[in-house]
Amino acid sequence: MLQRPRRNRKSAVIRDMIQENRLSTANLIFPLFIVEGQNQKTEISSMPGIFRYSIDNLLREIESCLKLGLNSFDLFPAVEESLKDKFATESYRKGTLYLQAIEEVKKNFPEACVITDVAMDPYSSDGHDGIVENGEILNDETLVVLGKMALAHAHAGADIIAPSDMMDGRIGFIRNILDENGFTNVSLMSYTAKYASSFYGPFRDALGSAPKKGDKKSYQMSYANSREALIEAQLDLEEGADFLMVKPGLPYLDIIKSLHDNFDLPIAAYNVSGEYAMIKAAIGNGWLQESAILETLMSFRRAGATAILTYHAKEAIEKGWIK
Ligand code: PBG
Repeated sequence: MLQRPRRNRKSAVIRDMIQENRLSTANLIFPLFIVEGQNQKTEISSMPGIFRYSIDNLLREIESCLKLGLNSFDLFPAVEESLKDKFATESYRKGTLYLQAIEEVKKNFPEACVITDVAMDPYSSDGHDGIVENGEILNDETLVVLGKMALAHAHAGADIIAPSDMMDGRIGFIRNILDENGFTNVSLMSYTAKYASSFYGPFRDALGSAPKKGDKKSYQMSYANSREALIEAQLDLEEGADFLMVKPGLPYLDIIKSLHDNFDLPIAAYNVSGEYAMIKAAIGNGWLQESAILETLMSFRRAGATAILTYHAKEAIEKGWIK
């Protein structure tokens, strides 16, 4: 045998030398949930180790992440049911919990990168990402709401706005509104290929944002499809996106790879709540070793993602797995 691939695996130093993909704190984005009130920190039962924070505690949490070198945060609000309506007006009203949170984080930690989520579902009495009329999700009418929401986030200080709604044309629509208002420097991380998935369950528990009726299949993509993701990516590129995201992550590594191979924008992967819950449950039961976490995160790098949104971000750094 002339070729003995095992020779390149014979020592830790050589294994390290030939390692193709690396993961650093710079690749990680930590999603954080916000609630009304003071001194609140309540654990989400389906996401052990992940909490909803009131703004005061959110600031403490972000400070401790920054000390670890974790610098990017994606914020999500849990909105009281009484504030929700058909048109998600709470998503752009002045002085909301969410806008205050963005402002406070940027005021206290200007160096932190704040990513905001644009979609109607946390604020919608229907629990959908768009306006519902006779059981249908209206596309163009929804864009108007998304535009107001994005503009409010930009005014509050968002560094990157991430539309997660899957309405057609939203990237271009939002890009226009931001530019017209002087926010040419605010980035757009598009949820390019977001699939109608069962893996969002724990997130919807965290926010109380599950659809009241029906499912999201008329706007989120079918998990049987991959080529559609290329159409979505092409549109996002043309409409002015700065990042292309694939969501969920683990069951869609092929989609991450395909966008990476076909487009030159940076690719983000969202390692979603259900993926987190699965791994945590298995580790909690002693069925998997904790090293499954790093193996999972590295798979996103191998597939071609540079940015990884993951609830594991902080623990992976705290435990010294990622530097
Ligand atoms: C809402 C949104 C969802 C997630 C991020 N933004 C849920 C959904 O589309 O129903 C899911 C994130 C996760 O599961 O971790 N637009």
